[in-house]
Amino acid sequence: MSEVENYSATTAEQIEEFRIRFLSKKNGELVRLFNEFKNVPAEQKKELGQKINSLKIAVTDKINSLKESLEETESTTGEFDLTAPGDAIKLGSRHPLSIVRNQITDIFKRLGFVISEGPEIEDDWHVFSALNFAEEHPARDMQDTFFIESNPDVLLRTHTSSIQIRVMENQKPPIRTINPGRVFRNEAISARAHCIFHQIEGLYIDENVSFADLKQTLLHFAKEFFGPETKIRLRPSYFPFTEPSAEVDVSCSLCGGKGCNVCKGTGWLEILGCGMVDPNVLELNGIDSKKYTGFAFGMGIERIAMLKFGVNDLRLYFENDVRFLDQFKSVIQ
Ligand code: DAH
Repeated sequence: MSEVENYSATTAEQIEEFRIRFLSKKNGELVRLFNEFKNVPAEQKKELGQKINSLKIAVTDKINSLKESLEETESTTGEFDLTAPGDAIKLGSRHPLSIVRNQITDIFKRLGFVISEGPEIEDDWHVFSALNFAEEHPARDMQDTFFIESNPDVLLRTHTSSIQIRVMENQKPPIRTINPGRVFRNEAISARAHCIFHQIEGLYIDENVSFADLKQTLLHFAKEFFGPETKIRLRPSYFPFTEPSAEVDVSCSLCGGKGCNVCKGTGWLEILGCGMVDPNVLELNGIDSKKYTGFAFGMGIERIAMLKFGVNDLRLYFENDVRFLDQFKSVIQ
């Protein structure tokens, strides 16, 4: 046993010799002991069996550790086979949501928008009050908020609109910012809804920003992202923080607007909410609403990823099954 433990070898041949001496199927030491084992009296079998077993383990461990240290010295002494073919580097892939997020933010970056982020654990002011959600306003119920029980002023942000407020606190207009982030809502998980998802918010504040600027910016985005033939349409809507507000549809990129099962025969897909920043929001955040106007918009990344990749079960984006993720290897970004 101690002979095995103290054995040392510096070449692959010596290790092989050692292996043959103990483990050879024909006349190795262990085979010899196993043969002997058959002949010993029954009461000695247990003890001898254990000894043989621990010898076998010791020999295998020794061989492995000798091989390891041999490899180490070879790699440090530079004995490489320079003609050996290289090991292929296994490439990972970006998560589909990261791909879509990057594609969207890149389009806005080219228009001069700057990325800003904010905390996921927020307070009432940044998620609701500073965005013109009045106390007891029913619109607060539009979003099922996760509150921290012991302190209802601490909550998980339900939308990335809170980042608008963080930016307005720290910057003077002109402001042109694009804000990706993770948001949380108390929803049951299904193929169509999740309690965690991602949004991208945009905010532009300057002198003389008009609704036409908003429309043109979103049309440019839609054409860049979904293709040059894409059209947009705006439908009147309501958000506490914008006035007027609209919901934006893009012409269905799958059927070209003719109507298919993805757009449910309408030819249009809803992609985001937007509007002119309500003057109250500007004033609440110390920006002179007589001098400045602005527009804002917000979209769900999962929703856009579903349209882009045709993956209609939201849960797949969160399970991180490599068989799913591997399929995005070819998408660069
Ligand atoms: N925060 C809204 C939501 O989560 C989306 C949104 C709508 C953001 C209109 C905006 C906006 O900035 O102007 O449903």
